[in-house]
Amino acid sequence: MSDLVYLNGEILPREKAKVSIEDRGFLFADGIYEVARCYSGKIFAWEGHYDRLCRGASSLRIPVPLKSDEMRRVAEDLLERNGNREAIVYIQLTRGAAPRAHYFEQGMEPTLVLFTREVPGPNPDLLKKGCQVISAVDNRWGLCYIKTTGLLPNTLAKQAAKEAGAFEALFVRDGFVTEGSSSNCFAVSDGVIRTYPLANILAGITREIVIELINSLGIPLREEAFTLEEFKGADEAFLSGTTTEIMPITGLDGHTFAGGRPGPITLRVAEAFQRRIDEVRNG
Ligand code: PDD
Repeated sequence: MSDLVYLNGEILPREKAKVSIEDRGFLFADGIYEVARCYSGKIFAWEGHYDRLCRGASSLRIPVPLKSDEMRRVAEDLLERNGNREAIVYIQLTRGAAPRAHYFEQGMEPTLVLFTREVPGPNPDLLKKGCQVISAVDNRWGLCYIKTTGLLPNTLAKQAAKEAGAFEALFVRDGFVTEGSSSNCFAVSDGVIRTYPLANILAGITREIVIELINSLGIPLREEAFTLEEFKGADEAFLSGTTTEIMPITGLDGHTFAGGRPGPITLRVAEAFQRRIDEVRNG
């Protein structure tokens, strides 16, 4: 199986793809990224990912070199030539290379990288039985809606979760649970689903799809902040994300939800999401 990647207009074997050591993505994390899922060789929710990339690029004043259909074709070409079926498409766009200085010049050539990788998807056992999560201080910056490659708080929180034997870390800011280190989170109490509003969190593409599904299932939903204590008092909880899908949470910092099993509302949402994946597979 070949392992081709895209770098600035060229399709190259992975080991031939080289980026300057003065690329601002490397020196300053001056760049953004996307991770899209691919099921049976087909990309899930392309437009959402491309639009979010453009919004982030515009906030950082980085030009996006390819239009949506052009970039999609590159991704599909890589998936096909690499023989990927169950995979991720990774896209990274940085401001480009220049002699190191904090400020940047206008008109720089951005660096655009796309690669694909076969991934097994979330652990089926966890999807079925639910996962453990821990809480972590949300010590990120004030522009978390930009999907920047500056992910140290996220990677440290995920590492802490891993070392605690948990699947994910939930960030807590001013007492409120905002999102996971690489996922969004939802709590269910008295039949109402709640999730943190789009205020300095990442606008997850899966979150958006899940909200749409929740609405079409007729389950009440509120986009409002809730405290860690309220979260622990919830009947059920779950995560959403591109690589997480809909993952039931059965434990938080040692506290157990719904008798340690995925709750009924979580299962309804997860089934609806699975149907959406199946539509992509069969479409
Ligand atoms: N992360 N919140 C954060 C902080 C994230 O990094 C992610 C995704 C999400 C979920 O967003 P989406 O549904 O668009 O995947 C929420 C990706 C998968 C990653 O960093 O690998």
